[in-house]
Amino acid sequence: MVANGSQNQIKFYSEEDVPLEMHKVRIVQKLNLPPIEKRLEAIIEAGNNTFLLNNRDVFLDMLTDSGVNAMSDRQQAAMMMADDSYAGSETFTRLEKTLNGIFGKEFFLPTHQGRACENIISVTMVEEGSVVPMNYHFTTTKAHIVANGGKVEEVYIDEALNIESSHPFKGNMDLEKLKNLIKEHGSENIPFVRIEAGTNLIGGQPVSLSNMREVRELCNQENIKIVFDASLLADNLYFIKTREEKCRDMSIAEITQEIADLMDIIYFSARKLGNARGGGICTSDRDIFLKMRELLPLYEGFSTYGGMSVREMEAIAVGLEETMDENMVNQGPQFIKFMAEELKKNDVPVVTPPGGLGCHIDAMQFVDHIPQTEYPAGALVAAVYLISGVRGMERGTMSEQRDEDGNETLSNMELLRLALPRRVFTLSQVKYAADRISWLYKNRKLIGGLEFTEEPEVLRFFFGKLKTTSNWQQKLVGKFREDFGDSL
Ligand SMILES: Cc1ncc(COP(=O)(O)O)c(C=O)c1O
Repeated sequence: MVANGSQNQIKFYSEEDVPLEMHKVRIVQKLNLPPIEKRLEAIIEAGNNTFLLNNRDVFLDMLTDSGVNAMSDRQQAAMMMADDSYAGSETFTRLEKTLNGIFGKEFFLPTHQGRACENIISVTMVEEGSVVPMNYHFTTTKAHIVANGGKVEEVYIDEALNIESSHPFKGNMDLEKLKNLIKEHGSENIPFVRIEAGTNLIGGQPVSLSNMREVRELCNQENIKIVFDASLLADNLYFIKTREEKCRDMSIAEITQEIADLMDIIYFSARKLGNARGGGICTSDRDIFLKMRELLPLYEGFSTYGGMSVREMEAIAVGLEETMDENMVNQGPQFIKFMAEELKKNDVPVVTPPGGLGCHIDAMQFVDHIPQTEYPAGALVAAVYLISGVRGMERGTMSEQRDEDGNETLSNMELLRLALPRRVFTLSQVKYAADRISWLYKNRKLIGGLEFTEEPEVLRFFFGKLKTTSNWQQKLVGKFREDFGDSL
């Protein structure tokens, strides 16, 4: 449904900047907040890794927005009309047509989720010695490129890693760095340049349309393809529309089309883009399409479902159409901004400008007494769960992999990410989380470090287990009881 007006046009008498919801909630799920003593047991049991907590012990699940955004009534209705056939499904045709309408690419390959696209693209295009420049890596992207013998090189602008900044597009690529990299390695060793919309690991920071254009021009000169990771495109579209002067009067669909025209291959996690669960690759390059299609039955399934349930595919088609509505893309970034401002009122160091995906807290400043080798962001995530029942995600050194010699790869940033799945939480829940974190900030010196007890070699943050370097969590529980009495 395309609304007549935008939520941005609604003003409050108080002149307050309130992220007003342009939807109503018609189905709800009960939440549970266990007492802090129970939360202590739960986080110890989970090896201080919030991925390993059971949801029954979690109050507000801000781990991720992946596959947990709220669906619309139209998405749910569409799921009932799915065509469940292995080959030639009508559902596939509908989704293909929707994607064609939005991105204008000829071919679509469905996959079960975003990282499956990364696997297929990497197996097809990356080889031993390949170098893949990108604005910033994502965990699974890097793992797939490295697994195929390639290397990731980040060419972000200097401002990208500044926690407090007023730069509107911290996800932009540095053209000079990209040029030098191409000169250094030779374009024949660069299978593609990857642009990630809404750069996940540096705080959901957007890329501008003009930067994408510049990268395109350079890649044309050097005959290099561009792969666009559109998983976080929805938030990025909001920022382009509101921050890029030339795009103010363009519709979300027009901006999307302009972006798509610049890209050779577009892939996405539909757990994010499209508010359902699945993924896919779009391209008009027939040769690459045919090569990638050969891999589909091997890793995903037949080319008309690619490992997805047809119900989800129907939901993605409607979710993508809804993403072209300004009121829909507004919701995430505006809630994130609200949360960041609540935290800033209490001096909590947050990434600015607030980006998409979630609110990002700088653990390097929050717990500046914890060395990076003791995983400050990981410790902060565990502490936040303990004192609030809010589950966030570590995006720092724990999310990196050790080098070939077993040394730690210290992350550029140590972030606690509090994802705000779209249309899921209310403002009072956001206020609760900000209130507890503000209390924690006052008591931050009580937080201590972590060390691994079980450390998987690949993507260790998913299944790794850690213990505290002292009994700091018990002390934190004691202070909580002192200050909050018998509050949950
Ligand atoms: C930017 C980006 N790319 C790729 C992926 C991988 O997608 P998926 O989780 O569906 O495998 C994600 C997931 O969070 C992401 O944020």
